[in-house]
Amino acid sequence: PHRDFYLISGIHSPEEIDQIQKWEIRDTDIFIITYPKSGTIWLQQIVSMIEVRGNVTATLDQLNAIRIPWMEMNVGEEFANAPSPRLRVTHLHYKFIPLGLKQKRGKVIYVARNPKDIMVSYFHFHIYANMLETPKDFNSFFERFMEGKVFGNCWFEHIKAWYSHRQEMNFLYITYEDLIQDLSAAVDRICVFLERDLTAQEKENVVKHSTFQNMRKNPTANYQAMPSHFNHDKGHFMRKGMVGDWKNYFTVAQNERFDQAFQEKMRDLPLTFVWE
Ligand code: PPS
Repeated sequence: PHRDFYLISGIHSPEEIDQIQKWEIRDTDIFIITYPKSGTIWLQQIVSMIEVRGNVTATLDQLNAIRIPWMEMNVGEEFANAPSPRLRVTHLHYKFIPLGLKQKRGKVIYVARNPKDIMVSYFHFHIYANMLETPKDFNSFFERFMEGKVFGNCWFEHIKAWYSHRQEMNFLYITYEDLIQDLSAAVDRICVFLERDLTAQEKENVVKHSTFQNMRKNPTANYQAMPSHFNHDKGHFMRKGMVGDWKNYFTVAQNERFDQAFQEKMRDLPLTFVWE
């Protein structure tokens, strides 16, 4: 771990990550913040589609993850020289963020997901992502996740740190379950927050190209085109895209343990989740 935060060796450089705090932030910058497996690629798709006003052909020549690149894999120099609006995504903990965000420069979209489904999605991700160690079974991954020994660290700490500092920033909190429940309403909220004035037809196009089915088919929106990082014989990035799959994995005892931890650790945070 670097400053108590697990990074992926060979992919992240601690020195570069320490530079991020000094990045100069413009009012037009947009940051998507997630704990892993919370809907990162979904927001990368939605926000990049909003930026081209729903015109999908304007996005098809570029992978989703290049349209909105990772902060932790993007050297500062490149960021400093990029044209506005600069769009970035990150799994980093609050303590690493550019200090300018705390002066209400730029905009932050925090996407949260119910942590039981995150755990299941992350378990599968560890099986087919080449840069991560394959877990022995779900039970061993459950323990690792509870201890926070994964990239992103402890889920509770991540959401607590970001959410409790939300008033320092221009901050939109939205959940994966909000998107599942009503994608069109979620796109509306995101447009309002980003101050993007799209027509109804343009918004409809954003929604259409951001559904699970269409993203699964679209190689620029699902990592199929990134063979070096993933073993696609062992799993698919767009796996199930549903709420409540944890029920197929958690034992009754694990579920009780998780609920207890959730109650204790989230006591002072007024957040509720849709679990099924
Ligand atoms: S990562 O590796 O952290 O960037 O992963 P992330 O993109 O955050 O999360 C991947 C999960 O999000 C699901 N997903 C979607 N669900 C519904 N609709 C859409 N459009 C969508 N896009 C991505 C994806 O299927 C992963 O969840 P699981 O539960 O594994 O299916």
